[in-house]
Amino acid sequence: PARPNIAVIPGDGIGPEVVAEALKVLTATVGPDAFTFTHYDLGADHWLDTGEVLNDDTLADLATKDAIILGAVGAAPGSTTVPSGLLERGLLLKLRFALDQDVNLRPSKLYPGVRNPLAPWVTCGGDVDFVVVREGTEGLYAGNGGSLRKGTPDEVATEVSVNTAFGVERVIRYAFQLAIRRRGHLTLLHKHNVLVHAGGLWNRVFTEVSKEFPGVTTSYLHIDAATIAMVTDPARFDVIVTDNLFGDIITDEAAAVTGGIGLAPSANINTAHTFPSMFEPVHGSAPDIAGKGIADPTAAISSMALMLDHLGRPRDAARIEAAVAADMAGRTSATRHTSEIGDAIASLVAGAS
Ligand code: NAD
Ligand code: IPM
Ligand code: MN
Repeated sequence: PARPNIAVIPGDGIGPEVVAEALKVLTATVGPDAFTFTHYDLGADHWLDTGEVLNDDTLADLATKDAIILGAVGAAPGSTTVPSGLLERGLLLKLRFALDQDVNLRPSKLYPGVRNPLAPWVTCGGDVDFVVVREGTEGLYAGNGGSLRKGTPDEVATEVSVNTAFGVERVIRYAFQLAIRRRGHLTLLHKHNVLVHAGGLWNRVFTEVSKEFPGVTTSYLHIDAATIAMVTDPARFDVIVTDNLFGDIITDEAAAVTGGIGLAPSANINTAHTFPSMFEPVHGSAPDIAGKGIADPTAAISSMALMLDHLGRPRDAARIEAAVAADMAGRTSATRHTSEIGDAIASLVAGAS
């Protein structure tokens, strides 16, 4: 088959720092000629220079790629030059929506050697290992809202959550299929005691689809209670399925209880395989540490394993996972430079071929 074409969008802040290490490890894994890379200089600086976030031609070009690697976009909260949400909505969410990336897959695993920062009593050894299947193209992210009487004391602001039977069913079905290949347990997170319309749809579809998967045990938690379980008993989870915003929030917490946001990878999957999927760390541009060389590139590196898996190279994906695990097992409290971690994992991958 032809060489896959990969788009690389390093983005803002620590995005370029962690993407450089991800590409280093990727090349160490598959060699220099396995993929063709095209770099896209998008993000805050591009917008400040050109007034464009992502134009239609660039979007159409990205849509022809086999996969997209994204670092992060977004200015520092409180930035006076870049409006909040401009790049997040105009680039990241635009890609997820336009490329119909319906499943936002976010695995969390407490690696041996990694101390759980929130719950030191949850000792490592591999018992905390779950995947969040976050819906990626609907919910409160649909951009369906508005303001009445904006700027007056009578202002009314609305954000309407959009949930379609089609969109809900495809992610729930994906989550059941994933659960079969794992430990056979699926948890739905929602808030159907309050959000009766959307929650009702999620609940009904979950119950219906579950009948096709007698080998999967199911449970349900309200999202507020789920944030407790995530801290006190994360080992109970195998696969979690939830909507776009609940999934956003619970996966930051999931990252925190499995070693930190610097370790959490993600895949935005176009399950229909009509458009490229996109691979990115869960974290953002981290303006507070950008330029210091202290960002952990592990999340971006592990996202490369998700990409290789998606591109039909599971053995190469497993090599990256093994190298990441080996590096983590040997970590001490000493801070390492971003590129030191990338170098270490790259040489572990090369040694394990
Ligand atoms: P953030 O994830 O950038 O940072 C949260 C905290 O985690 C910060 O203290 C940061 O220093 C730390 N952190 C993040 N990544 C790290 C890493 N690899 N190693 C070590 N520490 C790390 O979230 P935020 O501060 O809420 O957002 C900053 C900007 O990024 C905002 O503009 C936001 O909109 C954007 N954002 C973008 C994405 C994305 O592009 N996928 C995701 C989240 C946030
Ligand atoms: C994430 C981020 C994005 C999201 C933002 C930056 C739009 O927080 O990927 O988790 O909310 O999905
Ligand atoms: Mn997030």
